[in-house]
Amino acid sequence: MASTNAIANIGVTGLAVMGSNIARNFARNGYTVALHNRSIAKTDALLEAHGAEGDFVRTETIEEFVAALEKPRRVLIMVKAGEPTDAVIEELAAVMEPGDIIIDGGNALYTDTIRREAAMKARGLNFVGAGISGGEEGALNGPAIMPGGPAESYKTLGPMFESIAADVDGTPCCTHIGPDGSGHFVKMVHNGIEYADMQLIGEAYHLLRDALGFGAAQIADVFTEWNSGDLESYLVEITAQVLAQVDAGTGEPLVDVIVDAAEQKGTGRWTVKSALDLGVPVTGIAEAVFARALSGSRVQRRAAQRLASGTLAEKPSDTAQFTEDIRRALYASKIVAYAQGFDQIAAGSTEYNWDLHPGDLATIWRGGCIIRARFLNRIKEAYEQDPGLPTLILAPYFREAIEHAVDSWRRVVATATMLGIPVPAFASSLSYYDALRAPRLPAALTQAQRDFFGAHTYERIDAAGNFHTQWSGDRSEVPA
Ligand code: 6PG
Repeated sequence: MASTNAIANIGVTGLAVMGSNIARNFARNGYTVALHNRSIAKTDALLEAHGAEGDFVRTETIEEFVAALEKPRRVLIMVKAGEPTDAVIEELAAVMEPGDIIIDGGNALYTDTIRREAAMKARGLNFVGAGISGGEEGALNGPAIMPGGPAESYKTLGPMFESIAADVDGTPCCTHIGPDGSGHFVKMVHNGIEYADMQLIGEAYHLLRDALGFGAAQIADVFTEWNSGDLESYLVEITAQVLAQVDAGTGEPLVDVIVDAAEQKGTGRWTVKSALDLGVPVTGIAEAVFARALSGSRVQRRAAQRLASGTLAEKPSDTAQFTEDIRRALYASKIVAYAQGFDQIAAGSTEYNWDLHPGDLATIWRGGCIIRARFLNRIKEAYEQDPGLPTLILAPYFREAIEHAVDSWRRVVATATMLGIPVPAFASSLSYYDALRAPRLPAALTQAQRDFFGAHTYERIDAAGNFHTQWSGDRSEVPA
């Protein structure tokens, strides 16, 4: 019920769908929630439809909103990332007091969160950048929550977040991630992995459709079956549901009447930009981001429709075998995507001194979030067994899974290439695996070339230090 005097445990400002659902989730879990929105109409709509779900406090102004909160005050901002977030933070900071906590639950760029946290700290306020995953449904019934910021604020905030988060086997899908921007950084990489996962599923669908000639309903059945094994995950499950959906207007599968140009709000792109800066090869995520961009290159795609595919096309003869090959290729490529994402998290942790724990992330990603999947249990176990794992691919379970899949993986990439079906994420993940395994990469040649034209020097396999060959002189080698 709405009341005007209650002392609220938490305030939520920004009552679009995500904000409303999180507010309802808190209220349903017994918290008194102060509500605020730029236009009161949204607040009233929420109270009208769901006011009976728990204790809400209706407020109109920021002053009223802040006054309704118990101390230390906790305000969760659920507005559009970017300038709107800065504007709300400024309004709140002007009326809040030292020790109060401002939480940004949007998909903020982590460097913005680092900046905001420092600015709020200087004013005595605690700022928590919290990644929240799970979409509308998750926000209402249990998301995965990745809060960064001061450890001190987690003491009061943690139990609240943990009570509204999803849980797996009694463990909440929420933990304190680390200082300042770490929560949003981890959420960003989560989204990068989400992009890779979706692209890989898309490539599997493309192959089932164009290499094997399956219709959408048939492919839906394949994904349903895959969802009962190692690939069990939210994204595979919804893929089956999407593919089974029939368009009411045309009677065709819905997927066949949707324009094939994928959009993005930016978190995948941020992941790749950050990976470039950190020097981490997140090739699967990068291919996924570029595949969306390519799908949206409508002018070029229209102009290129009639380009020749060559004459090598040969369809796979054994449908059941090739379907299984695709399943294994999907699984192996998915392992690579997660391995790369976890490498980026380790690199970010080192760069920013965050002391992140990959096993904890795997634990909280097992439920609530978009990339939740059965195999996150395996990732959790892998890091429990060896917290210093150099790459996830080397954990015994994953190594075995990939080695079991590798022939299928090669057949899928080779067949797709022969048929002219683009599989950028399958192919680049396989190349990444082969590059990691390779005893000698062509990078030695790159180093020699760099030394030739720019005297950039190289290291030798048989002596310490750096060396330079006097390419424009007598070509003798000198220590650099
Ligand atoms: C989540 C999602 C969510 C994201 C959408 C859309 O974890 O709940 O990652 O945060 O906004 O998936 O992202 P794109 O528009 O970039 O595909």
